[in-house]
Amino acid sequence: MTIRKTIEDGVETFEAEIDGETIQWDRGLSYARHLQTQQLLTSQVPVSDKPDEMLFIIIHQTMELWIKLMLHEADIAMQQIRADQLGKAQKTLDRMATVLRHMIHSWEVLATLSPHDFLTFRGFLRKASGFQSHQYRELEFCLGLKRADLVMIHNDDDQKRLALEAALHAPSLYDELLRLLSRRGFDIPEGHLDRDFSQPYQADEMVEDAWLEIYTNVDKHWDLYSLAEKVTALEYYFQEWRFKHMKTVSRVIGHKPGTGGSSGVTYLVKALELQFFPELWAMRTRMNAPKQGGNYAEDAATNAGEAQPKGCPYD
Ligand code: HEM
Repeated sequence: MTIRKTIEDGVETFEAEIDGETIQWDRGLSYARHLQTQQLLTSQVPVSDKPDEMLFIIIHQTMELWIKLMLHEADIAMQQIRADQLGKAQKTLDRMATVLRHMIHSWEVLATLSPHDFLTFRGFLRKASGFQSHQYRELEFCLGLKRADLVMIHNDDDQKRLALEAALHAPSLYDELLRLLSRRGFDIPEGHLDRDFSQPYQADEMVEDAWLEIYTNVDKHWDLYSLAEKVTALEYYFQEWRFKHMKTVSRVIGHKPGTGGSSGVTYLVKALELQFFPELWAMRTRMNAPKQGGNYAEDAATNAGEAQPKGCPYD
């Protein structure tokens, strides 16, 4: 096989024919250098000699990478919301939801780890647990779930602690949404717009009313409504990730305590109650059928005397 060598823009460049294709590469930037594959592929370091530990390491590492992307995109989404670029923010939120769906599917790979497989190396993990994932915690803070006491387990690592503290004290995605609603003239309590963001968010009826108005008059508030639906999808998939984690854990260790010291599955079930955007969920219970295209029978009762649509399937 002949390799042709040239200089392009001062960079040594190579070309060869392989299977009828002209393949090129250069010394400027390689796949390995760009993607740091050397570092990436030497970062799987088992603590046991048990073959199933590799799956356990790789599934955690891939999830950590996806969480890293989620954090990156959440930051972009917040910038876009601050700049009132709602179309762009929707696209970013869509990407985040798609990443979550992908992460949800990956639990199926981990589910091939049987209780027996896991027990061959579980003891080697000592107290290491996903509970100590600083990125996961940062993502929770960033979306709106502030729990200051969880920072302390990173006290001996300044870099992680500082990143977590910054996310704890910064406005969350939900705080940015409420500021957006206020800019649009909705009556959001002052104490919600400018508060100590490190404190847990307290749901409020005025905020719920604002979302209800948006969801009741969707045509009038279309951009806010469709943004809210993207945000809702994000929480929906986050919860599904939590659920699949809990179910996979239950399948692998039953009700044993976690390596991190918690009650295990019972702790993970409690986490299913956690919420990022509480009023966006609560408001749904108060919604009524729309005047057009909804529950005609109810419309008939409320709009007695008005002409009813023809051919209603529930007549
Ligand atoms: C066989 C596999 C797994 C088992 C048995 C397991 C078990 C557990 C348990 C029992 C907890 C509760 C804390 C504790 O006491 O340790 C926990 C928390 C956690 N795990 Fe896993 N896990 C597994 C896989 C994963 C994977 C692949 C990830 C992905 C990053 C992950 C991320 C987390 C996170 C973020 C928490 C904290 C959740 C919270 O505080 O709400 N886990 N895990």
